[in-house]
Amino acid sequence: MRLKDKVAVITGAANGIGRAAAEVFLNHGAKVVIADYDVESGKELESQFLEQGFDVTFLQVNVADKKSVRAMVDGVLLKYSKIDILINNAGITRDAMLVKMTEEDFDRVLDVNLKGVFNCTQAVVPYMIEKGYGKIINTSSVSGVYGNVGQTNYAATKAAVVGMTKTWAKELGRKGINVNAVAPGFTRTNMVEKMPEKVLSHMESIVALQRLGVPKDIANAYLFLASDESSYITGHVLHVDGGIMM
Ligand code: CAA
Ligand code: NAI
Repeated sequence: MRLKDKVAVITGAANGIGRAAAEVFLNHGAKVVIADYDVESGKELESQFLEQGFDVTFLQVNVADKKSVRAMVDGVLLKYSKIDILINNAGITRDAMLVKMTEEDFDRVLDVNLKGVFNCTQAVVPYMIEKGYGKIINTSSVSGVYGNVGQTNYAATKAAVVGMTKTWAKELGRKGINVNAVAPGFTRTNMVEKMPEKVLSHMESIVALQRLGVPKDIANAYLFLASDESSYITGHVLHVDGGIMM
């Protein structure tokens, strides 16, 4: 029960890593808001968790849209009156080689992965400051730290997340708010299913632990950074990638 009675907003929690995080957080006593664009999966997951007796709420949000984020945050406050933990996990890819990448794909990835993180954090932080307590966890990526063929747009956003994490750690430390990032390696979700098999098997072969990640590997890192066990850690980027690069 490492998150007993904490209110956690997890963006992109209807699928993949966010979904695993919702489950881990609920099992540790948190009240979880599944904040996702995907209504069908979000509602289905909400009913599944409610049937198990958990305190969980699905709220639809498009993190790229400031008004939608405002409405989501208002919804959380109406129900729970506080937000202790924000996991900025929602993200998308639109991969293409640099010369073939369209402006639309460049902009779309920036809107969700970069502006989305800014929108959610800016909307939530005033309520954390009010309580003098907060845990913000951003999701970077091995691609943002080391670069990756075909991911100009995505790598740019995931590197930017590191810059924002460190900036917010410096701005918000004095307010009792820890800001950290997790940089996952290749993890079995819908996102990697879209990759050519040849590229994916090459990636797997260079992982020191010789396997791809599973969503729970990343969810456990979110849990550590959301719990009070990490209370003297801020501005850190935790690599959860099986040792793909060192
Ligand atoms: N390393 C080195 N070379 C590579 C490469 C790689 N990882 N991937 C592709 N190439 C090479 C190809 O071998 C090919 O070389 P030649 O021209 O000499 O034949 C050239 O680049 C062009 O490749 P494609 O024929 O595949 O070109 P394409 O335009 O059809 O597709 C692509 C390009 C969309 C980038 C496709 O290769 C692709 O999807 N690659 C995977 C990108 C990737 O790793 N995405 C990660 C998604 S998961 C995620 O994002 C989560 C996370 O945070 C890690
Ligand atoms: P996923 O595709 O399985 O899940 C992403 C979720 O985000 C989906 O539920 C989707 O509906 C939601 N989402 C997308 N756009 C949204 C928007 N505009 N507003 C609200 N929700 C939106 O992806 P996965 O793999 O679970 O990724 C989670 C995070 O982890 C992402 O930030 C991703 O970039 C990052 N990551 C993933 C890795 C992997 O290998 N799977 C590796 C490194 C980082």
